[in-house]
Amino acid sequence: MTKISSRLEINRVAELDQLLTQLKPLILKHISDSSLPNASLGSKLSPQELAKRIKLDIPEKGYGQEGVYGIFENVLKNSVVTWHPGFLDKLYASTNPIGIISDLLLSLLNTNSHVYTVSPILTLIEKKVGKEYASLFGYNGQFAGGLTFSGGSWSNITSLHIARSILKPETKSKGNGNNKYAIFTSKHSHYSVEKAAILLGFGSDSVFKINVDSNGIMDINDLEIQISKSISNGYIPLYINSTAGTTVFGSFDPFEEISKIAKKYKLWHHIDGSWGGNVIFSSIYKYKLKGSNLADSITANPHKLLGVPTTCSFLLLPDERIFQTANSLKAPYLFHNDQSNDTFYDLADGTMGCGRRPDALKFYLGWYYYGTEGYKERIDHAFELAGYFANKLAQNPNKFKLISTNPPPALQVCFYFNKDGEFKDKDLNTKITREIVGKLHESGRFLIDYSPADGVDHGEFFRVVFVSPNVDSDLIDELYDSIIKIGDQL
Ligand SMILES: Cc1ncc(COP(=O)(O)O)c(C=O)c1O
Repeated sequence: MTKISSRLEINRVAELDQLLTQLKPLILKHISDSSLPNASLGSKLSPQELAKRIKLDIPEKGYGQEGVYGIFENVLKNSVVTWHPGFLDKLYASTNPIGIISDLLLSLLNTNSHVYTVSPILTLIEKKVGKEYASLFGYNGQFAGGLTFSGGSWSNITSLHIARSILKPETKSKGNGNNKYAIFTSKHSHYSVEKAAILLGFGSDSVFKINVDSNGIMDINDLEIQISKSISNGYIPLYINSTAGTTVFGSFDPFEEISKIAKKYKLWHHIDGSWGGNVIFSSIYKYKLKGSNLADSITANPHKLLGVPTTCSFLLLPDERIFQTANSLKAPYLFHNDQSNDTFYDLADGTMGCGRRPDALKFYLGWYYYGTEGYKERIDHAFELAGYFANKLAQNPNKFKLISTNPPPALQVCFYFNKDGEFKDKDLNTKITREIVGKLHESGRFLIDYSPADGVDHGEFFRVVFVSPNVDSDLIDELYDSIIKIGDQL
């Protein structure tokens, strides 16, 4: 027989060494440049303009090591620099040095946390970190824990699926049948709740959007009215989603009261803490999550507020065995380990998926590196910054109108600007907001966002989000002055 030799790159150690050596200066420069006094966070280009600037060919014969430096440089040059302190746009910012290392370790291992056999220590890490995370929220039972899912949306979707499987076990084989299940969530909640209803075959008409007050907090009287109404209309109430840190305002719903209502009508109560859940790390602000221990499930995302590399999202349960009860099909071709012990170690058996990136490792290393104390300081600092900015705006009512409360409920500050102190014209507000946000982006100094909101009738407003620990009050002063300077010239 002819011998077949391996296609393995025999020089892979030397090759990796060379790649790392070649690219390390670019990596470090990307970060160090972002702190220079006049650093830019990247250009504002339309997709068409960007497409003209770059060449993205797929070669027949690979470019190999010679080609990598150029493409690496090009990607860095044409990306948003989330390390720049002026990146105040979405509900995340750059990761940190240990975040990069943790991603590298995951890629080095390139394993799969679906079964214990191929991810032994990573499985134990996921279970440990899930348990500790759950305990912060007041899930302290023997089996309290959590699993990672690929983002807050998927943690939320999974929570609705688990709620149905546990409260209505017959749906696992029979589906929804002719039953009309009702889902309740506030008008300010994230779209993932409605998507979950679509995905699980309830349909979006089964989602009842509960009124919020002027601060974006769920109105529990309306919640109870809507539950009663849904029953009269032939629905079976199933699930309430409440939010810890709504996407636009950052509001926290009243969890204790909502849990009482859930118990009264025998509904599942889920808390979507994708954004604000990590406030739990702060001894000053964790009161906002009072009653979280009463909920049936909680989503919390280390990849937003804690700077863990995307994606890293946990669904936490007071009893992790529920993951398996709701999701297991005991597939014998994959799950060879005894799953009948008091808990389970083949983690995919507790999910609707199969292959899983061991995202928990990134959170574990971050937590290990900074400690609970470090995460607490990170969150307290972000609250200080948001409070500083909101106060500054509140002191100039001739140009700014805060929509957030002062201090804001979480780490986003929402407001209007008008050089004449007029905020009534909806279209004009939207136009001013968009123009200033666009010009700030063009300047390369600030990337901030804007949004409309249900119940806010004066058009789109600015939303500035404080996540990064690299921001200071000087930068906020610069942002404030820049908005006035651009706005006064409109
Ligand atoms: C309140 C809330 N829930 C869920 C999500 C979705 O999280 P992810 O982006 O991790 O899917 C977001 C995203 O911003 C959010 O703000």
